[in-house]
Amino acid sequence: MHAWLCEQPTGVDALRWTEIATPEPAAGQVRIAIRAASLNFPDLLIVQNKYQFKPPLPFVPGSEFAGVVEAVGSGVSHLRAGDMVAALAGTGGFGTHACVDAARVLALPQAFSFEDGAAFAFTYGTSHHALMDRAALQSGETVLVLGAAGGVGTAAVQIAKAAGARVIAGASTAAKCELCLRLGADAAVNYSHDNLRDALKGLTNGKGPDVVYDPVGGDLAEPCLRSIAWRGRYLVVGFAQGGIPALPWNLPLLKGASIVGVFWGEFVRREPKANAASLQALVAWYLEGRVKPVIDQLLPMARLHDAYARMNAREALGKLVMVNP
Ligand SMILES: NC(=O)c1ccc[n+]([C@@H]2O[C@H](COP(=O)([O-])OP(=O)(O)OC[C@H]3O[C@@H](n4cnc5c(N)ncnc54)[C@H](OP(=O)(O)O)[C@@H]3O)[C@@H](O)[C@H]2O)c1
Repeated sequence: MHAWLCEQPTGVDALRWTEIATPEPAAGQVRIAIRAASLNFPDLLIVQNKYQFKPPLPFVPGSEFAGVVEAVGSGVSHLRAGDMVAALAGTGGFGTHACVDAARVLALPQAFSFEDGAAFAFTYGTSHHALMDRAALQSGETVLVLGAAGGVGTAAVQIAKAAGARVIAGASTAAKCELCLRLGADAAVNYSHDNLRDALKGLTNGKGPDVVYDPVGGDLAEPCLRSIAWRGRYLVVGFAQGGIPALPWNLPLLKGASIVGVFWGEFVRREPKANAASLQALVAWYLEGRVKPVIDQLLPMARLHDAYARMNAREALGKLVMVNP
């Protein structure tokens, strides 16, 4: 087998496409022949030693992938060789094969392609947990999605629309804003050019968004929190811009608003039943055509560096997916 090996977490340039021995699954594991693997922002952080989870070295990055079960370890009863599956393993996806704990593997519903299966649970699971669970989004409410053309952002736009909300998409380029409008957003704000406070006032008759979905952080957070509606919920999803905002505490007081943390990985670990229900609801929406991963580019696995460069340069519209022949 081949894989992108991280021997030193000093950045993307240190990753090497290497031939390694094909592993046999241990008890409780399966080996998957990987057909597609998507790039999530934590895959960028983990090879720079900036992610909260630091795997032992060397490791193969790639948190989310889909493929075919090839071999089954002892004690695994719900999966068989030949099953089409998706895996959320944290690492291992950027290669041709991986051994994964069976508990982290889900049967792929027939309607899913490998590409969609590899680009679904992480972003849609995060955005569903954030909007539907943590923010208790109600039909008719207005949601502002920041970084709306990114991975979790495109999922949040689709989920909020499927839930009957009005969506204002925020993004940094005209092309990204256009993509969000095509996905069903009711309005889009280009925050590289437009003043966010003025734009949000204008788009909500001065009321402000009921929910802010923020995977970007940095200097966008304060104007958005200042704009939020009475009883608003500000979802802290991530800090793609790099800076962790420090905000004046009088703002939530003045708006009767809540600042709500979102940590999907921990939700999956602590509340497996609630996560299973969330994924089931998302699969139903997928089958109804209400949500579908937006794929920026499909690239051969050997071109992983190009995908990383595109994410790092903030160029991706939706998800980057690597495929094996
Ligand atoms: N809390 C959770 O459980 C959870 C789960 C999954 C992901 N996340 C976090 O959510 C964030 C987004 O993840 P993602 O997979 O959706 O990433 P992504 O596809 O790369 O999207 C990130 C978006 O952030 C914006 N951005 C602003 N400054 C950036 C910069 N310096 N570099 C890159 N992007 C920048 C970009 O939109 P514009 O150009 O339009 O600004 C980009 O589209 C990450 O911080 C990730 O760690 C959190």
